[in-house]
Amino acid sequence: PTTLAEASPFPVGFAINPSPMQNNARYRQTVTQEASSITADLAMKPSRISPQKGVFNFEGADYLVDFARSQKKRVHGHTLVWYINTSPEWLKQLRDSTELETTLREYIQTVGTHFKGKVASWDVVNEAFDNNQGAIRRDSVDKSGRTLFNVGKILGNDYVARMFQYAHKADPGARLFYNDYGQETIPAKLNAIVAMATDFQQRGIPIHGLGLQMHISIDTPDAGIETAIRKLADTGLLIHISELDVAMNPGKKKDFIATPALIEQQYQKYKFVVSTYKKVVPVSQQFGITFWGVDDGTSWIPGHCQCTDYALPFDAQFARKRAYQGFLDGL
Ligand code: XIL
Repeated sequence: PTTLAEASPFPVGFAINPSPMQNNARYRQTVTQEASSITADLAMKPSRISPQKGVFNFEGADYLVDFARSQKKRVHGHTLVWYINTSPEWLKQLRDSTELETTLREYIQTVGTHFKGKVASWDVVNEAFDNNQGAIRRDSVDKSGRTLFNVGKILGNDYVARMFQYAHKADPGARLFYNDYGQETIPAKLNAIVAMATDFQQRGIPIHGLGLQMHISIDTPDAGIETAIRKLADTGLLIHISELDVAMNPGKKKDFIATPALIEQQYQKYKFVVSTYKKVVPVSQQFGITFWGVDDGTSWIPGHCQCTDYALPFDAQFARKRAYQGFLDGL
């Protein structure tokens, strides 16, 4: 095998954006050759699809979907409901529960119908749980004072279940996922997600899969990674490692240099994630592994950490890194 897609027994791919797909030949070529599945990084987020109330703009998302279909790649939709800043301002301002519920139902119906039969799966709700008690988020502002989309407080904890019902109605063929981060390091959150999934299964709420974002670092303990994958897989649902990247500079050092020792640690971490996924998740539940980005030049991590980092399998020149080999060696 000469690419990730050829080597991997389960789907593998990247979160991608229309602009580098159109403007950077090496980015496009890497995606075309290495991926069997893609996720939209930004183009399917509510802020892009519906920047104003009643306005729907599918241009960027359709471009990615058309590319994927022409190349026979799977498309994973991300995300219908998310509490944070990539929800549009107009939506975050809604305070009346009936109006908010109706708006979200109509949004899901419109978007789900638009992509019906073209998007294999959706992250229906992203990051609904907090990092402390593993409770449904009810905060109105974040640490920096930004207004959050306080959907849990306005609609009540069971809003998550209703969003899945709306998504299922819009596209009965789509596999529906709950997606979240930090499950490998926050046991309360992991347990809350497992409990919610089990409850949904018992109540007949249409959930088919669980997404582990896995924005991890070379310091993330292996034991937590394995426990998270195992506990999620025990639900019997599809398991998607949905946003994988492995930061090398978790301390956000100013003068960061990727030493050979750190490169080796990143190789080992990628290898561990892939081998654990393959070992622990039954084949029928292996939905696949998605990197959050393609290359270190366009990765979201430096902007997020305000630091230098190299978290992805390709470097900024699209050369395969040791991290890439780590994925292959984990298979
Ligand atoms: C990120 C994008 O990559 C950034 O460009 C954007 O500024 C913020 O969102 N968890 C998720 C993804 O579910 O949607 C996030 O993507 C990364 C964290």
